[in-house]
Amino acid sequence: MTRAVRHTTDLVPGLRVGSVVDIGGGTGAATWAVAQAFPDLTTATVADGSTDALATGRRIARHGPPAVAAATWQRTHLRSDTVLPQAGLAIVSYLLGELADPLQEAVTDAAATASPTLLIIEPGTPRGYAAVLAARSRLTRAGWHVLAPCPQDGPCPIADRADRADDWCHFAVRLDRSALHRRLKGGRLGHEDEKFSYVVATRDPALRGTSSPGRVLRHPVTRKGLVQLEVCHADGSVGREIITKRSPMAYRAARDAAWGSTWPDQALDSAAVPTTVSSEDRNKE
Ligand SMILES: C[S@@+](CC[C@H](N)C(=O)[O-])C[C@H]1O[C@@H](n2cnc3c(N)ncnc32)[C@H](O)[C@@H]1O
Repeated sequence: MTRAVRHTTDLVPGLRVGSVVDIGGGTGAATWAVAQAFPDLTTATVADGSTDALATGRRIARHGPPAVAAATWQRTHLRSDTVLPQAGLAIVSYLLGELADPLQEAVTDAAATASPTLLIIEPGTPRGYAAVLAARSRLTRAGWHVLAPCPQDGPCPIADRADRADDWCHFAVRLDRSALHRRLKGGRLGHEDEKFSYVVATRDPALRGTSSPGRVLRHPVTRKGLVQLEVCHADGSVGREIITKRSPMAYRAARDAAWGSTWPDQALDSAAVPTTVSSEDRNKE
């Protein structure tokens, strides 16, 4: 959640959030992430159907920043006619994938009615991506504008390409595991790579930027003298870019790029060779 929110604030530095409604918020993890990122946050409502989750969240929240400690923990059974509290930002975090399709749509609509800006996040699996994509399409059809991670509002080029049937848009963050974490999960590694798919959309015209940079879609591949980036572009295309040392500025920028970074196309000069990724190439990797 923190990484998705940080991606968003990087892309939309003008975004201010004074209130949040965390839908299917459970113990309020997303509310904590929002409180960290937005110092102006004063009001938070966590709406969830589970009294146990809400009670646990309320107990943990006592140790949180002021907006979290003062949050309202509201028992809410999400149904097709649910009306949610109004807020500057609505978050639907790791929920949609648990709901049947008609309820996914109803919750997306209820969230969009409750707030002008909506962040939806799901596990970075094909199923999670499908839920995010369905909500994204629903919102853009209703005239909403995508703020992150996509650089454009048109159809997702990954979903649209036949040779990408085994691909889906997601990002990853490496999380340290404490000893307790390892024990609870039965894992031995000291970290885990959490994959997530997300979308942030708005109906607030003031948040629409004039142009949006591309987005690096997976770990950059660094070889001697070159960096290979997979980039989703503002023109609705997606493809591989190879940046060599012959373009020193672009090369330095590419070496600093990471999965999820923005990629300023204008930084590339003539030595950057955009190519298209084929599934055959992907298999060789
Ligand atoms: C996987 S948890 C995610 C919790 C939290 N959003 C997070 O990211 O940590 C899914 C949450 O959705 C809630 N939930 C699922 N279906 C619901 C429904 N129909 N009405 C209300 N809450 C629901 C569950 O109680 C649970 O807390």
